[in-house]
Amino acid sequence: MPLTGPREMFEKAYKGGFAVGAFNVNNMEIIQGIVMAAQEERAPLILQISAGARKYASQPYLMKLVEAALVEADLPICVHLDHGADFDICKACIDGGFTSVMIDGSHLPYEENVALTKRVVAYAHDKGVWVEAELGRLAGIEEHVVSEENVYTDPDQAVDFVGKTGCDSLAIAIGTSHGAYKFKGTPRLDFERLETITKMLPGYPLVLHGSSSVPQEFVAMANAYGGQIPGAQGVPEDLLRRAATFGVCKINIDTDIRLAMTATMRKFFHDNPAAFDPRGYLGEARKAVKDMVQHKIRNVLGCSNQI
Ligand code: G3H
Ligand code: 13P
Ligand code: ZN
Repeated sequence: MPLTGPREMFEKAYKGGFAVGAFNVNNMEIIQGIVMAAQEERAPLILQISAGARKYASQPYLMKLVEAALVEADLPICVHLDHGADFDICKACIDGGFTSVMIDGSHLPYEENVALTKRVVAYAHDKGVWVEAELGRLAGIEEHVVSEENVYTDPDQAVDFVGKTGCDSLAIAIGTSHGAYKFKGTPRLDFERLETITKMLPGYPLVLHGSSSVPQEFVAMANAYGGQIPGAQGVPEDLLRRAATFGVCKINIDTDIRLAMTATMRKFFHDNPAAFDPRGYLGEARKAVKDMVQHKIRNVLGCSNQI
């Protein structure tokens, strides 16, 4: 099956009240773990590549790995640029075969975000590529921006933005944030705001970034074997499941992959102090990614058997 764009996935997701998982990939084991999970669940899949991932592994390597996944798995798979900071990185990914890109002008003044997004949309649509944009700002660390505070998406501005830019999907800020430390107090998402945006943009696919749940068993496991990850807190899974019933068609997960791999590898080295074959520890890490993603697909995103 060739690489696919997200249009059909999102149409189904919107109608069915589920979300497609967009998982960040940086190397072969991560890609394999995610794809194995999606294959077993018969789930549509978005593999997303950040600027940091391109820098770490290089775009051609990652694209060849995704190509290999398409040989092994008969699934609709979309390759997406995560948090494209400028026109040039979006262009490089579009030219390199990505089926979807994100232009993230969320840190810019509104009119500059509109202008930048419009420029990317024009280039991408000419080549049949999907464009995700972002309005509002998530707290946490991303490649090019560190934000202390959430700036929630304004529903009127969201309508204006989509109309002016022609972007295909919109990442919104309703309380999630990037990384392992998402809430100071009780985790809460602004469902009222989400519902308003959904009503004002009927049928339009929304995206939630910063959607790791930071399972405490990974944190505890990592810390039991030498880690020092302080009390992290993620988005409760039931809130994500609920968001998927309000027009959120794409849910982004990266931190949970990092935690699953790190906890597993720490335990592996503790249990096997003499081991030094990378296939041992990377194989265990890959299995941990697979199990975690399978759980998300089945129990959180609700996208099993939706291809
Ligand atoms: O939201 C950002 C993603 O988690 C990607 O992280 O820029 O460190 O690859 P990264
Ligand atoms: P988490 O790291 O919180 O899972 O967020 C991932 C993300 O939003 C990637 O764009
Ligand atoms: Zn993000």
